[in-house]
Amino acid sequence: MMRSLIIGTGSHAPPRVIKNQDLERIVDTSDEWITSRTGIKERRIVDGETTNDIATKAAKSALKAAGVSPKEIDLIVVGTVTPEMLFPSTACFVQSHIGANRGIPAFDVSAACSGFLYALDVADKYIRTGIHKKALVIGVDLFSKIIDWKDRNTCVLFGDGAGAVVLSAEKGKRGILSTHIHADGHYWKTLYTPLAICSSPLHHKTPEHSYMKMQGNELFKIAVRTMGEACQEALDRNGLKAGDISLLIPHQANMRIIKATGERLGMPEEKIYINLDKYGNTSAGSIPLALDEAVKNGMVKSGDIILFAAFGGGLTWASALVRW
Ligand code: ACO
Repeated sequence: MMRSLIIGTGSHAPPRVIKNQDLERIVDTSDEWITSRTGIKERRIVDGETTNDIATKAAKSALKAAGVSPKEIDLIVVGTVTPEMLFPSTACFVQSHIGANRGIPAFDVSAACSGFLYALDVADKYIRTGIHKKALVIGVDLFSKIIDWKDRNTCVLFGDGAGAVVLSAEKGKRGILSTHIHADGHYWKTLYTPLAICSSPLHHKTPEHSYMKMQGNELFKIAVRTMGEACQEALDRNGLKAGDISLLIPHQANMRIIKATGERLGMPEEKIYINLDKYGNTSAGSIPLALDEAVKNGMVKSGDIILFAAFGGGLTWASALVRW
């Protein structure tokens, strides 16, 4: 059976660092509150770069790591909810910017912070059909564009970033073992961003209407439950136990959500990859950015079992299990 082997990872976080102390000057908050409630110390924010720019940088670094030419890529799937344009898709821009072949399929999927795992699920299924051989999967978001920088409930949580992987169709035991994606639209009001385009004179809407809205407490509880369930689902599907996992790479939203997920599974803290202190919540960029760091830090070795889990607006939640 064909499997999707991750043969290269890459990422890009904008160089501009915004520390918690910088936010103290913008809203009524403190480094102590942000650190103790979320684990975040600083985040990266774009300064002129666009979604397409940072997605392209992450894609190029993943291609380089994989030793794959853009001409070999036959599918591009991007998870994002902050594209530069409504259309063309971010995937189409990446296709053109990296110099991939004309005519290959390229499209975005919208699942907020679960976006990368949704994109991975889609690309994996295309590869398993045997039709596609080399896929580029990207998670990218610039939440700095949609958050209200006057709202302390949300502006302290997010950052900008992108990550990418190259998938190759291979036979054997290594590669993506399973992916699991879920949604429950009944909870849409816990996290949403109205479209700025609806602010026509007829609708009498102001720019504030297009900022992200969040019910943090409600989301927190759902996140802990769904992340735990998604992890367990991936383990059960593959007949594995938490002790078989070499590394859990969770969506980097809040240290307390990550710890609660780890405790539910019985995973020791040293087997959970955490970098949200440096980047905050980069939405769809979060998991592939963390994966790329973990790979570069030598924390992922051939044969390791890696578990990914995410939740996000929609609501959506997802997991994936990979034998590296
Ligand atoms: N600085 C100081 N005080 C603050 C801040 C801040 N930045 N933000 C909120 N507060 C205050 C509140 O106003 C409240 O004050 P009050 O008691 O006087 O009313 C107090 O702190 C406690 O607020 P809570 O909301 O109860 O704080 P909580 O411990 O739940 O933490 C948080 C809030 C961090 C938002 C948490 O609920 C959380 O992380 N939820 C999940 C959010 C999330 O992950 N969103 C992303 C989803 S993924 C995606 O798709 C993008």
